Parts: sequence; C-alpha cells; structure tokens
Amino acid sequence: MPKRSWAEPFKIKMVEPLRMTTRAEREKALIEAGFNTFLLRSDDVYIDLLTDSGTSAMSDSQWAGMMLGDEAYAGSRNFFNLEAAVQKYYGYKHLVPTHQGRGAEHLLSTILIKPGDVVPGNMYFTTTRAHQERAGGTFVDIIIDEAHDPSSLHPFKGNVDLGKLEAIIAKAGAKKIPYVSIAATVNMAGGQPISMANLRAVRELTKRHGIRLFLDATRAMENAWFIKQRETGYADKTLAEILLETCSYSDGCTMSGKKDLLVNIGGFLALNDWDIFEEARNLVVLFEGLHTYGGLAGRDLEAMARGIVEAVQEDHMRARIGQVEYVGDHLKALGIPIVLPIGGHAVFLDAKQFFPQLDQLQFPAQTLAAELYLDSGIRSMERGIVSAGRDKNGEHHRPKLELVRLTFPRRVYTQAHCDVTIESVQAVWENRKTVRGLEMIYEPKHLRFFQARFKRL
Ligand code: F0G
Repeated sequence: MPKRSWAEPFKIKMVEPLRMTTRAEREKALIEAGFNTFLLRSDDVYIDLLTDSGTSAMSDSQWAGMMLGDEAYAGSRNFFNLEAAVQKYYGYKHLVPTHQGRGAEHLLSTILIKPGDVVPGNMYFTTTRAHQERAGGTFVDIIIDEAHDPSSLHPFKGNVDLGKLEAIIAKAGAKKIPYVSIAATVNMAGGQPISMANLRAVRELTKRHGIRLFLDATRAMENAWFIKQRETGYADKTLAEILLETCSYSDGCTMSGKKDLLVNIGGFLALNDWDIFEEARNLVVLFEGLHTYGGLAGRDLEAMARGIVEAVQEDHMRARIGQVEYVGDHLKALGIPIVLPIGGHAVFLDAKQFFPQLDQLQFPAQTLAAELYLDSGIRSMERGIVSAGRDKNGEHHRPKLELVRLTFPRRVYTQAHCDVTIESVQAVWENRKTVRGLEMIYEPKHLRFFQARFKRL
C-alpha cells in the first residue's frame, strides 16, 4: 500500500518569532547559566524542548474562553464548567482546583500522609515524591524492573510489579500505607504507559488490604492512547472511554493541567471521598485560594475546561504522539541510544551510552543537555542523578537511568523543527568521545535540578 501520512489537525494563525544565536553567544549563555538548562534565559533558546509543561499552544476556542472568564471571587461560572468537564471525562465526584499539579500533590500528601508512612508508587516523580517526603512519608518504588532498563521493549514499562507491592504491604503493614500512588504515563521511566489490566490488578490487590489508590493523571490521556494501540480489547474504544475506565480504578487524582490539558497554567485534585474533599477544600484556602478558584483566574479555569474536551480527541493525540515518534524513529535509525519504546511526551537520550567515559558523578546527562544546547540552541532537560536528588542520609540517589529528555510541547513545533533537532543530536553523538563532564558547584536543598550550578571539568 502506498504510504499515507498523518498531519497536524490544525493550521497556524499566530506565530511567535524565534531567535537564532551563534555558538559563541551560546557558550557565554551556558557559562552564565552554570551549565544548567533551567537557568538559561528563554530568549537565548532556539527550539525549547525543556518541557511539555505549560508550553503548549492553546486553540482559538481556548483563547475565546479566556475572554469569557468570570472573575468573581467566589462561585465563578468557569469553575462549574471545569467541574462538569472533570466529572464527565475523569468521572470523579469532587473537584478542587489548584494553581498546578504540585498544588494538588501538596494537598493530598498533607491530608493523607502521616510521619512514618510509606507511599508505594510506579517510579518517583520529583515534585510528587518531594511532597510525600515533606509530609513525613517514604516513597517506595514498585515499578517493574524493565522500567529501569532503557533497552527493554516491554510495551507497558509503567506497570506495577505486583510482587513488589505485596512485599511492601507485608513489610510495612497496610495501616502504614495511606495510598498507592500510580502515574499514567510514567514520566521518569521515559513517558511509558501502564496497562489497564495492571491497573485493575493493582486496584484489586490494594482493595483487599483496604488501601486507597490515587492516580497522577497528568498524562493519563496519553496513557489512554497507548492502551488503545497496544492492549487487547481496547482498539475500538474511544480515548474518552479509556480515560474514564482508567480513573474508575482509583479514588481520585492529582492533575497538572499544564500537560494533557493544553493550558499554560492550572491543575486540580479530583476525588470521590467526601471527607478528604472537605479537608482539601479547607486547606486549599490556606495555600492556593478559595475552593472555587484554587489560585487560578476564572479565564484559566475556562481554558482548562475546554482543553479537556480538545485533548481527548483522537486526531489530536495521533499528531501529538506521532511527532514524538517521528523524532524517536529517526534517532533510532541513526543508531543513537534512546529509551525504547518511544514515550508519549518525549524522546529520552541515554546519556550513559553517549559518554561511557564519565562517572555518574560527572553528570553525563547534565553534560549532554549542555552539549546539545551548545551545538544548536536546543534546550533539553537532565533526568538522571541531578534530578534524583539525595536521600534522608544525604547520599545521592543513584538512578539506573541517566537520561536527557527532549520534551515536545503540544501543537507548537513543526516537522522542520524536528529535523533540526534530529540533526543536532546526531552532531553531538558524533563528537561524543571528546566530551568532558561537569562538577557541581552549587546545590540547592530542594529539587536541586532546577537551580544547581556546574562547571566544566
Ligand atoms: N506529575 C507529573 C507526572 C509531572 O510530569 C509533573 C510535572 C507534575 C506531576 C507536577 O505538575 O509542574 O504542574 O506542578 N512535570 C513537569 C515536567 C514539570 O517537565 O515534566 P506541575
């Protein structure tokens, strides 16, 4: 059959010019930024693949919704629109808006975790674990071993190892486990999905022990896409149906609307239990804002409500994940080491294979992100030992995965930007043997990867 391509299900009606820089300008910018891509000025960045968080392009309908913001302090109509959309598409009864995902994580962790508790999860996420630990909990990784292996082709590397979960329940006791924390997809594993069958099994197991299950639904729509593609029995279901079923196996979710939901700011906590909801409604007033705005303007609530409806459309998701696959497939064909299968929101480069000459404490992934910026002005992100931080005893967590994430904002870049990206990664790959590592010269206490500074060895 002759090839039939997909294309973006939108056309562009507003553009934002990009600035190109010289290598000398980038060298200077990189030194000023302490070799940390988070500390670059975005004006010095050409193609920004730092994150897909809050960086997506809103639609004309979302922008029109912004003009319909009801900026009343209490009871804004946009809150009720969002509440209705969350109930319809995610299926939870109660909604507490928050300024972004970590606002919801803060509320949930504060309400449910007591000092000494254990929170099992399918790999950590930085802010999620930080809030669990801040509340006195200890995170325990229960993801399958394949998730820690960049070359394993397991189709659902976000799955929970039920044996690991059973073992931690037996060891800690169900009373010490306030909830199991399940991400869909799993960001730190490379944007890898969890299967419906696995999620259902986790729900059954935890239910037998009277343990709650909370979902990090930040990219659950992308997870739904993978279930539709890969899991028997789901090919003919809509993404909306799959999303609803996913959520039905949980007691609630924390959500960063800045990803799936195509907004620049926003998030929520959504759940079924009235008592937890009551407590969250009380606390949100202290930390975020009144329970009907949660730190957001009415217009932001409206954009998020509209984003839910747009994001769950199949043609949108095909193009979104199709773009990530396009870059991943090309890099793979060039023999460049990436995490496989290719994830939902990003292509992850395996920095250990780029720089076998570097010890993990010479920060191979941080180094790779710096080299890529130097080559072309493309901004990526370290997801390795710097992101992993230190444990309670002050020792570095030493993650098996030492990755650089090329993260794709939704509806923002074209295929030509993708080609430039592929070529730049190839150039760095070809020069990999000459590269020296980095030394950390400033280390912040919390979430160090955001503000740490480095110098060249
Ligand atoms: N959960 C997941 C899986 C995330 O990827 C993020 C954010 C959050 C929670 C926190 O949400 O940023 O709205 O407070 N991830 C961004 C990223 C920062 O670049 O991956 P937030």
